[in-house]
Amino acid sequence: MSSSSNHDHPLIPLSHLGDLSVTEFLSDYWQKKPVCIRNGVAFQEALIAVDELAGLALEPEVESRLIENKGDVKDWQVIHGPLVEADFNKERDFPWTLLVQGVDCFVPQVHDFLSKFRFVPSWRLDDIMISYATQGAGVGAHFDRYDVFLIQGEGQRQWQIGQACSVNSALMAHNQLCLLQNFDVHQEFILNPGGLLYIPPLIAHKGVAMSDACVTYSVGFRSPSYGDVLASFADERSTDISADLRLKDQGFASKSGEISAMDIAALMQFMQAQITPENVAQWFGKHSTEAKYPALNMSEEAMDQAELEAIIKDGYGVLRVSEGVRLAYTWQGDGGLTLFVQGEALPCPPDVTVFIEAIANQWVLEVEDIVPLLAHDAAKAMLLILHNQGYLYFADE
Ligand code: SIN
Ligand code: CO
Repeated sequence: MSSSSNHDHPLIPLSHLGDLSVTEFLSDYWQKKPVCIRNGVAFQEALIAVDELAGLALEPEVESRLIENKGDVKDWQVIHGPLVEADFNKERDFPWTLLVQGVDCFVPQVHDFLSKFRFVPSWRLDDIMISYATQGAGVGAHFDRYDVFLIQGEGQRQWQIGQACSVNSALMAHNQLCLLQNFDVHQEFILNPGGLLYIPPLIAHKGVAMSDACVTYSVGFRSPSYGDVLASFADERSTDISADLRLKDQGFASKSGEISAMDIAALMQFMQAQITPENVAQWFGKHSTEAKYPALNMSEEAMDQAELEAIIKDGYGVLRVSEGVRLAYTWQGDGGLTLFVQGEALPCPPDVTVFIEAIANQWVLEVEDIVPLLAHDAAKAMLLILHNQGYLYFADE
């Protein structure tokens, strides 16, 4: 279905990380052990200019931090964004790092780069954080609870990899940074531009910039804790259950101070009845596509059916998933599917499924290829809804 021009599109997921095939990477390293891949990713150019990154850190809707390595680790300063011009103009005689979270939500090239990691399901992708550091700077020895690819964009960085950590790992007394008290160095690498380091959850790591203008891209993944899973599922179910339905007496135990086994059994039966494939899929689809920044205004200029027909007739350009939009689908029993987008569930009848599958799996469609996907009016109507909500947009490339 894709035309040949779509074949080399930047949104196509990677098949290799350097010389390692993604299949080998997933079976040997993913969620198992760290791996350093020199020339892991080929860049034609920087994903973002340094002044654009600094500009993002000034914006109130962008999450950013500046960490100054002044003096002892416990005295390191953290300035939380939005930053102000003066934070950048200040002369510093000690190393510092600027970290900007969720850059893929704001910069199309960074969103495209994130899409290359869709060799894991796209609902698992969290965001791309970009750091800019001066020589000698770092955020200290720490661990993250999610998988991460650390990719060197510019300059050089030394990475040290340490022990597996847990909730019991001792942390330093710092009120803003979660830094490890003990760091046992097991491996050490120096990454040049294009070099990639994969680190599984809970593995200690520490990076230090070996040059000025050291830019590192961190591709982070979503990994909800089981605690969050239970809390969020219960929350979703609770909104669907009528407040009129209450616990019923199951007969009484002989002692008034006792909670009877019959009461416990009845509670379990009620709770277990909530765990159906439909309920779990409906909740998880919404939960896993929740926006990282729900306050971001996504709205596109509304388009009507005639304007859509004109774009299709022109056959020029592409239809893209908007930056920061998360979407995923599950199949329904009737041959239709439910599209989950930004935490909302949209039931789609069978006539709409080819279009939804194509956009959710490819993230970009050549306009000249979408005609057969929109054979039914219901599919065009769905495209208009998604476009007018700001979830999809038309672009030149
Ligand atoms: C950095 O880019 O400096 C820190 C990234 C990380 O360790 O997770
Ligand atoms: Co980290």
